[in-house]
Amino acid sequence: MLRKLLFQQASTARRLLSAQSTAPLLNKCSVCSYSSSSQSEIPQTNSIEQIEDQPTKTISIDRSGLYNPSEHSHEPSSDSELVKHLKGIIKFRGGPISVAEYMEEVLTNPKAGFYINRDVFGAEGDFITSPEVSQMFGEMVGVWAMCLWEQMGQPKRVNLVELGPGRGTLMADLLRGASKFKHFTQSLHIHMVECSPALQKLQRQSLQCMDEDNTSEGVEKRITSTLAGTPVSWHAALEQVPSGLPTIIIAHEFYDALPIHQFQRASHGWCEKMIDVTEDSLFRFVLSPQPTPATLYLMKRCKWAVPDEIKKLNQIEVCPKAMDLTHTLSKRISADGGGALIIDYGLNGVVSDSLQAIRKHKFVDLLDNPGTADLSAYVDFACIRHSAEEASDDVSVHGPITQSQFLGSLGINFRVEALLQNSTDEQAESLRTGYWRLVGDGEAPFWEGPDEQVPIGMGTRYMAMAIVNKKQGIPVPF
Ligand SMILES: C[S@@+](CC[C@H](N)C(=O)[O-])C[C@H]1O[C@@H](n2cnc3c(N)ncnc32)[C@H](O)[C@@H]1O
Repeated sequence: MLRKLLFQQASTARRLLSAQSTAPLLNKCSVCSYSSSSQSEIPQTNSIEQIEDQPTKTISIDRSGLYNPSEHSHEPSSDSELVKHLKGIIKFRGGPISVAEYMEEVLTNPKAGFYINRDVFGAEGDFITSPEVSQMFGEMVGVWAMCLWEQMGQPKRVNLVELGPGRGTLMADLLRGASKFKHFTQSLHIHMVECSPALQKLQRQSLQCMDEDNTSEGVEKRITSTLAGTPVSWHAALEQVPSGLPTIIIAHEFYDALPIHQFQRASHGWCEKMIDVTEDSLFRFVLSPQPTPATLYLMKRCKWAVPDEIKKLNQIEVCPKAMDLTHTLSKRISADGGGALIIDYGLNGVVSDSLQAIRKHKFVDLLDNPGTADLSAYVDFACIRHSAEEASDDVSVHGPITQSQFLGSLGINFRVEALLQNSTDEQAESLRTGYWRLVGDGEAPFWEGPDEQVPIGMGTRYMAMAIVNKKQGIPVPF
């Protein structure tokens, strides 16, 4: 029975319904025995080629062949639109692109990016996230948001922003869980920051939205979530969320999707790792021979490092978009009041070499068929702290603490006990498994199924950090 339940689709567990799927579920940074880590498939240092300085040549162009394409083409017709696009950028720019540019195109290219046209979550998708594991995750984040709202003095109007809401599951569980606390829910205007039209649609369904029947001219149509009667708006970026109201921001597994630059130590200093195309039309890693614009961010990050942190590293990842986002978010909180909660997997220090690709719950090569696998990297929480502190003196940064500490202090133990009171045997097993995945560490000790499908706990690999306006005091439970 236990085995059967652990195979269930996570959303099924959430809703305490019966089993639907038999696919094993891995959360994003799980390494299980049947998965080969992308790290091992990244070309090793000695296989990365230095870009050679080309001597200047006179170029003469023979146009005679334009209408007679050669038999051997370097652009295989089987290339996807995204692969053609990436190769096109490299070709027309006349040189390789950064890992960050590659990652950004792969994930969010408006036509063919990984997130853009489909649902990538759950057993049928590519990976599983905490909100999809159990309803308790969104409920606990809701408890955090309500506590902060209390500390903010229960303002009558609040912007509740979620960055990268995926299927909208976290926000739906938050609203359902908070629906009894009318003063809180009535104060909210929900803002979903999402680049994917397909996911926006799913979020609308999850929040059970309806268009308000407002036919009077000149009045913007309002969309309301029937879960708690709250208005909902969608935006492509945080900057588009209207300012001027106290704001609570939630970023769960958003930072790990932001594009990173990779640097590698070479004999003459740090060189940026780039992506090029070979004669045979394959992607490959190369090293930039001289400093790139992103080197400025590397220098900034290294200044914030603790003594000896950099010395032992041969590779470093930096995420300028994470630094910029943290600036924007901190300035917003500083001006409008409120706070942000960031939960993700990562380190409280410089990240070395973490970029990974996951397709259908297995690690795959980073350069293999881009656009069909998720790319994500460890979040550098120390860098977020420094960026927030640099942005404003009016915000304070708390954590990171482990997800297990965060959820435990907010009362997930009590919540699981309460849910168990009214559950069937099957539901109870699902609940216990979901609970364990959220707060457990390593392989599930109770697992009786095949080794390669053992559930991996997310309790210590995921961390929570809060950035709040100092006026709010110390946020619960930091
Ligand atoms: C890893 S998923 C996390 C989803 C959700 N928070 C969860 O935990 O289930 C990343 C989310 O961020 C969105 N996203 C990624 N990059 C984005 C960007 N630059 N702007 C807006 N949304 C983005 C994706 O479409 C997706 O919804």
